[in-house]
Amino acid sequence: MSEPLVLGIETSCDETGVGIVRGHTLLADAIASSVEQHARFGGVVPEVASRAHLEAMVPTIQRACSTAGIALRDVDAIAVTSGPGLAGALLVGVAAAKSLALALDKPIYGVNHLAAHVAVDQLEHGALPEPSIAMLVSGGHSSLLKVTDLTTGVEPMGATIDDAAGEAFDKVARLLGLGFPGGPIIDRTATSGSSIAIDFPRGLSTRKDLERHRFDFSFSGLKTAVARWVEAQQRAGAEINIPDVAASFQEAVVDILVRKALDACQSQGVEDLVIGGGVAANSRLRVVAEERAAKLGVRVRVPRPGLCTDNGAMVAALGSEMVARGRTPSPLDLPADSSQPIESVLV
Ligand code: KG4
Ligand code: ZN
Repeated sequence: MSEPLVLGIETSCDETGVGIVRGHTLLADAIASSVEQHARFGGVVPEVASRAHLEAMVPTIQRACSTAGIALRDVDAIAVTSGPGLAGALLVGVAAAKSLALALDKPIYGVNHLAAHVAVDQLEHGALPEPSIAMLVSGGHSSLLKVTDLTTGVEPMGATIDDAAGEAFDKVARLLGLGFPGGPIIDRTATSGSSIAIDFPRGLSTRKDLERHRFDFSFSGLKTAVARWVEAQQRAGAEINIPDVAASFQEAVVDILVRKALDACQSQGVEDLVIGGGVAANSRLRVVAEERAAKLGVRVRVPRPGLCTDNGAMVAALGSEMVARGRTPSPLDLPADSSQPIESVLV
């Protein structure tokens, strides 16, 4: 018998994603993004995102089915992001998933968006070794997790105490006048700058900080340091080399992320690190993580950039794991939980 066919729906932020997988095989990953509608506001506007999900949902499901060459009745299970995310946006996906589950008489799995960012790597690199350390870096979250079982055992080791890593990229891009979302623009701009031009601070890295916050992150001080540096240059009438600022800022983020992730691996005697979330698409993060991990005998897994940012395939991948491990499906009245904790992988 072939492995079950799982359709996954993602609507936690501004991407309407519908993915279809069979086991660890990705068959379709259809995405409709409303990012352009938010760009002029410099951030995602929840009401605009919800309406865009509503409009995009049915066409995106149809596109995914047609790419995968399947009919909806072939699907064995439905997975959907139940949280965390924007309440109104999540509701659209959860309602769509419930309708499909009810109409097709198939089980539904309401899964955690953050765990899905980790699970998606299985579509590219096969089964995730357990335990692994996962570093999740996105627009809303920066966490270090110990994963002993992708469907039930995701334990937080540390998280950001203020801004998320992606949020720092977005805010610094805004103050440099580079546009939104900031991550990809800073990544590109940094390629022509020097990463050692300006020595920006590494948050929570002093000996005293490490006593209480060994695996936590802080990026708000870094963002302020960039703002102060730019202001000082402007006051002095000096020209600002934007690529240098972008590269030096990016280096500070990447340095601290990789340092703490590898420290987490070593503290647990774990040799596998998986990095997920939008910031995992960062080209410098991928290089630095590889280089430093290799020296410590740690294997690094990072999905290709298109699977790092929000998508439906990641939800289908986690749903597929739930089916494979025989987890009990969610009740049909499952809630959308905007602040679903990371420990709650399945609702
Ligand atoms: O995972 P994601 O698509 O959505 C959330 O769950 O938040 O992550 C979006 C975040 C944004 O802050 C964006 O600026 C950042 O990921 N991002 C990047 C890159 N691509 C996206 N940050 C750094 N470098 C990139 N190449
Ligand atoms: Zn995400």
